[in-house]
Amino acid sequence: MAETTDVDRAHWRHLGLPPELLSSSLLSWAGLAEVVDELALRPGDVLADLACGRGGYGLEIARRTEARLIGVDFSAEAIRQARAHADDLGRTAEFRVGDLAATGLESQSITAAVCVDAIQFAEPPAAAYAELARILVPGGRAVLTCWEPTDHAPDLPERLADVDLRAGLAAAGFVDIEVVDRPEWRQTERALWDEAAALDPGDDPALQSFHDEGVRVLQIWDQVRRVRATATTRAPS
Ligand SMILES: C[S@@+](CC[C@H](N)C(=O)[O-])C[C@H]1O[C@@H](n2cnc3c(N)ncnc32)[C@H](O)[C@@H]1O
Repeated sequence: MAETTDVDRAHWRHLGLPPELLSSSLLSWAGLAEVVDELALRPGDVLADLACGRGGYGLEIARRTEARLIGVDFSAEAIRQARAHADDLGRTAEFRVGDLAATGLESQSITAAVCVDAIQFAEPPAAAYAELARILVPGGRAVLTCWEPTDHAPDLPERLADVDLRAGLAAAGFVDIEVVDRPEWRQTERALWDEAAALDPGDDPALQSFHDEGVRVLQIWDQVRRVRATATTRAPS
């Protein structure tokens, strides 16, 4: 991804993102606006971007809200790139290596947390939801974007077949849980994957990976729904 900009360019074009937003996922500019609204951050609040990748969404949310950003990802290379990118943009943010299930963040230290298109990677998922609940302040907000299986989903990889955001958040003690379908987001995704599946990747590994993922995603296209989940940790009574 660092060595070829073609994949980034396809993301920027289809998702409507500005070139300074490094995305490794499928959240569009319009989808990001919804996420920002749901996070309800105020200046000085602490935002955790979990499985932040190269930090693009967290940096943009922090820019808009004036929240203090802590990005966490288990890839040291992604964290290295996120730090370098924040420096290039002249932004102050903290990026650290950590797992969705063991972030290394202090308990009740985070005002709101976002996880863009990555909660399905947690092993086990229940540990990631519990970690999310642990790091948030009482009354803290969590916003997750992901996919869930449709009623007929025989071919999904296990990690997607098992996604149940409402159940995961509820089991971790969250309240005010809302999981909404976002079919509009699927249209932009579809155009991106159609392009990926149709391109000739040559011998560029980033393009090969993009192409292969496009082919795989289109094979199971009707077996997932696009969803956005929001939830709150219990406030003291
Ligand atoms: C699809 S990318 C999304 C990255 C970023 N949220 C974005 O939207 O650009 C998934 C990210 O999850 C990270 N990841 C996967 N499993 C993880 C885990 N168990 N703990 C922390 N990060 C993880 C990967 O390194 C990768 O950066």
